[in-house]
Amino acid sequence: MHEAIRERRSIRKFTDAPLTERLLDEIVEMGAWAPSGLNNQPWKFITIQDKNLLNQLAQNTKYKHIIEGAPACIVAFFDTACSYHREKDLQAIGACIQNMLLAIHEKGLGGVWLGEILNKRAAVEELLQVPPTMELMAVVALGYPDESKGQGSRKPLSEIILAKK
Ligand SMILES: Cc1cc2nc3c(=O)[nH]c(=O)nc-3n(C[C@H](O)[C@H](O)[C@H](O)COP(=O)(O)O)c2cc1C
Repeated sequence: MHEAIRERRSIRKFTDAPLTERLLDEIVEMGAWAPSGLNNQPWKFITIQDKNLLNQLAQNTKYKHIIEGAPACIVAFFDTACSYHREKDLQAIGACIQNMLLAIHEKGLGGVWLGEILNKRAAVEELLQVPPTMELMAVVALGYPDESKGQGSRKPLSEIILAKK
């Protein structure tokens, strides 16, 4: 667990190797084991492997090259019909997406959380024809990595721990 958390890096280049539907299901399932307030599980997903649809989705972000080069994407939504407290629901969905990124890493795949696409939220929701209670949260592009990353960097603890009382 410690290793997975430390070694996971955002991967933005993928080989052409396709993913199995089972693998995608397993990753979504790992996401769904995230905690949520009252266990309300306010998330829904669309998995996409269809190249034509991936290319259309890509047109909605300046990171289009990442989606165009990915064999698959998992699109995460907030299902507002399941909401009980917006702020807590959004936090739970963040935990869910991180779970998926860790599962992706553990399976020898790579992935990246794409948030910039939220600027085109309405267009993406229309493209994917989701019910009106769905709010786009993120796109996770994933596949077998075609790049290797270094250690990454984070602020030192001395900058992020406000106080030890
Ligand atoms: C909410 C959120 C939105 C992000 N949006 C994008 C994005 O639109 N495009 C992108 O290339 N990376 C995006 N990232 C990935 C971050 O750039 C990346 O996690 C950060 O630079 C740390 O690098 P690491 O994941 O390799 O440790 C996003 C990450 C988060 C958590």
